[in-house]
Amino acid sequence: MGFEITIQKSENSRIGNFDPQNIGFGKIFTDHMFLANWDGKTWTNPRIVPYGPLELSPATSAIHYGQAIFEGMKAFKNMSNGKTLIFRPLENCHRLNRSAERMVMPSVPDDLFMEGLTQLLEIDEEWIPKTEGGALYIRPYMFATDDFIGVKPSETFIFAIFCCPVGPYYNKALKIKVEDEFSRAAPGGVGFTKCAGNYGASMYPTLKAQQEGFDQVLWTDPVSHQWVEETGTTNLFAVIGDTVITPALTPTLLAGITRDSVIQGLKHLGYNVEERGLSVDELKAACKNGSLKEIFITGTAATLISIQGFGHKGEYFEVLDNGNTDASQSIKNFLDAIRYGKAEDVFNWNVEI
Ligand code: COI
Repeated sequence: MGFEITIQKSENSRIGNFDPQNIGFGKIFTDHMFLANWDGKTWTNPRIVPYGPLELSPATSAIHYGQAIFEGMKAFKNMSNGKTLIFRPLENCHRLNRSAERMVMPSVPDDLFMEGLTQLLEIDEEWIPKTEGGALYIRPYMFATDDFIGVKPSETFIFAIFCCPVGPYYNKALKIKVEDEFSRAAPGGVGFTKCAGNYGASMYPTLKAQQEGFDQVLWTDPVSHQWVEETGTTNLFAVIGDTVITPALTPTLLAGITRDSVIQGLKHLGYNVEERGLSVDELKAACKNGSLKEIFITGTAATLISIQGFGHKGEYFEVLDNGNTDASQSIKNFLDAIRYGKAEDVFNWNVEI
């Protein structure tokens, strides 16, 4: 299926207001956005228009009943030839569609996703930071637009993509609180999706953790609170002895694309990687006996960040000062070299435009 995308260019670029030396995260948006409408049967009116407010009915069903899903992905500048590299975009398209199925939303065809994305990046190419550490964060998302207040799946939706130039999401090693009261996701629920409600529900526990001096929550399984799952914004890896362990995927865990890249990359670099249950007790025991070398977290926005230490039931476990960052540094360098076009893309992850 081919999609004809109409383009309305912005008359006043805002790029002059953008300071590449002081990017921050998520506050500046590029000049354009991509939009398409689902009319109940098909995707219609794919278009690129100036970035700006959307006009919506107060009864827009996504706002009331939460049919809203999103993705996070990044584009980088190839440091050697200036071309744009998008990191594993089809993985995001496919995860968006897994979320869509669970939330009774239409799927977005690969070619609509890729055409909208690549044309948008071509138009807003100048906004992609040219400095290492910088990237263009891309936010594809979909939400229900029926103007109707009964509880039922919406018949109409908007699929949209907008972008922001970004620097680091976190700029220091984090202290995380192992959550043993609140839950992020339950068996049979929507934990494996990137639906908006998962993030809305996490804000109260995260705020409480921050009031206790932590930066983030480390979610545990909702039944026993014994098994580590993910943090509020990322997946998690622990290096115990000579093994890198990450919680195995379950229906309550988000299948991170960075998580998958880290697993594949570490194996490629010769590390022993295990996807399996990781209990809070194992982490605490390894920290106490000195075999816990490091904990790091991974995500598109966060990239890869070390964990300073973790708290559990009022006890604090220091990790970073007692360990080493060998595995996280190696995989960070490996992934960055591919993302910025400085090393061979051995897994064919980059889409060049
Ligand atoms: C991402 O890493 O892209 C995310 O979507 C996580 C968060 C910023 C909500």
